[in-house]
Amino acid sequence: MDAKEEIRKRVDIVDYISTYVRLAKRGKNFLGLCPFHAEKTPSFNVSREQQWYKCFGCGEGGDIFKFVMKMDGLTFREALERLAERTGVQMEERRASGPTADLKERARAMHAEAARFYAELLWKTPAALDYAHNRGLTDETLARFGIGWAPDGWEALTKHLGAIGWSGADLAQAGLAKASERGTFYDAFRSRLMFPIFDVQSRVVAFGGRMVGDGEPKYLNSSESPIFFKSGTLYALNFANKAITQENRVLVMEGFMDVVATHQAGFPIAVATLGTSLTENHVALLARKTKNVILAYDADSAGVKAALRGAPMFEDAEMDVRLLMLPGGHDPDSYLKAEGPQEFAARLNEAVQLTDFNLAQLQLQFNLEDPNSLTEYVKAALPVLALVKSNVSRDRYIRRLAEVWARGDMARVAYREEDIRRDLAAHHRRMLSEARAKWRSTRGDAPSPSLADLHRPKVEAPRPEPVSGVGLAEKEVLRAMLQEPELVLYLQLTDEEFSEGPHREIAAIALKRLAGSGDADARLDVAALPEALANLVTDLSLREDQPLTAEHVQGAVERMRMHARQRRLSELKPIIQQRLQAGDLQKDDPLWLEWQSLQRQGRVSDRSRIDQPPAH
Ligand code: UTP
Ligand code: MN
Repeated sequence: MDAKEEIRKRVDIVDYISTYVRLAKRGKNFLGLCPFHAEKTPSFNVSREQQWYKCFGCGEGGDIFKFVMKMDGLTFREALERLAERTGVQMEERRASGPTADLKERARAMHAEAARFYAELLWKTPAALDYAHNRGLTDETLARFGIGWAPDGWEALTKHLGAIGWSGADLAQAGLAKASERGTFYDAFRSRLMFPIFDVQSRVVAFGGRMVGDGEPKYLNSSESPIFFKSGTLYALNFANKAITQENRVLVMEGFMDVVATHQAGFPIAVATLGTSLTENHVALLARKTKNVILAYDADSAGVKAALRGAPMFEDAEMDVRLLMLPGGHDPDSYLKAEGPQEFAARLNEAVQLTDFNLAQLQLQFNLEDPNSLTEYVKAALPVLALVKSNVSRDRYIRRLAEVWARGDMARVAYREEDIRRDLAAHHRRMLSEARAKWRSTRGDAPSPSLADLHRPKVEAPRPEPVSGVGLAEKEVLRAMLQEPELVLYLQLTDEEFSEGPHREIAAIALKRLAGSGDADARLDVAALPEALANLVTDLSLREDQPLTAEHVQGAVERMRMHARQRRLSELKPIIQQRLQAGDLQKDDPLWLEWQSLQRQGRVSDRSRIDQPPAH
């Protein structure tokens, strides 16, 4: 029997869900308040007999695996592992222990032991413990976050791990030690308060160390490794997972101390990026859990800049993102210390959307009491309003600005609103013609961009790693889908994006499995596939040549998509050309719209360009 069935036999869904939701027996089923949407009367049903759950309010439903995935934002594989651990079910290894798998296992083992070692040292080192206490951390918090101490000196960890059989070279490979010129090895972290960085399964994959005493840099983070990629990791997400889902919001911060202090103060929904700026990976990781994000960055100019860069990424993912601006140059840690949790909660409730934030910043530069300055303010506000994508919100901002402009004279608001709309339209036209001119100068006479394109500059796609040819790119993406599905989940791939033939077929199978429906299996049933496909699947599932990092996979997807676009463009080209020549290409012809949108999405080879815009 496989692990999945074994788990099903051992876990009762009612017992499991009861640890999250208070359930009461109603007839044959159990009933409670749905953890996936806000409701006052219970419509969340759990059936012991059938081992499923279903909410008649929001429609969410499934088996135990679906619940764990949804509740904790895990992939199917992760949910399976979590339940296996809980129930003591032995899991078969996912793949043969190739070089990378082995490397990962070893790195995890070393990190686990290193974290234990550092944590133990913290309790034995009064000066370090004093530092932690002075920073306001309680013993309970220190224990919960596994915070430790890397002593001064060069070999504490190297010696300790050496004694249990790990060589200096092993440690160096895992990022825990460095090689000296003489070929000896020394600890990478010294004289630092150590924050273990966990993956979503709460395994230590890296460290962040805060210097205590003199020395640079203030924070040192592990470098990337086969088990740690920064752009895909958020500090404390493993601790915050459940609360994020339950509260349906997340606090994104910059610092380790900020996150730990915020959790300790009773807000277990805080996570941090790790000394890097926010990436689309981070956004996608959070989008699986909640649509409500509050960016709580340092109240200095770097923090504001980071927030202004980060917020649009969440907006593009159609999330409600707000900016928390703490007064007096505070970061969340120092603010909590100075003002306490109640004040912090109040600031959270005051967090505003990007547009409001921009308008508020702008307002500071004008004196709204002075009519001339007021007019200047309105003018300066237009470009901010022009960036608002949704018509509904834009109307709301227009109305509000009109009210400010009319200075309480309600009779004038409607006129002012008209003025603003007219100016805004003019502003849009200007933006459009500028963009068109730029477009023409760089792209010859390819179709012009539309207003929608102008609303936000495109985020640059990550540089693809060299994977030559579309076949190879597709293979790499398939390999990721089979081996590390969490890397591709958020990319919203469809099988049509793969070239026809075996790749598309495998993609369809893998996607069905990824969709995580109740009957998806952890492993593909390779035996049921035709031999050629089965061989390819086996090969792709086991191959370990290049490490599957987020960057690598994104690069491959990017390449694959570019090829898919080109393929479609060459299909469309003769049809559109024919319609164009026949004079019956309408502006709203779906094929023409698709053509335009494909053109916009990526660089297109000269061969598939059409040299004339439509006549209408
Ligand atoms: P800050 O410099 O704002 O520190 O760095 P902090 O969080 O307020 O820390 P304390 O309160 O002085 O202890 C914020 C984050 O930026 C990254 C770290 O992730 C840190 O948590 N950072 C900072 C580095 O990676 N390296 C550095 O040298 C400094
Ligand atoms: Mn701080």
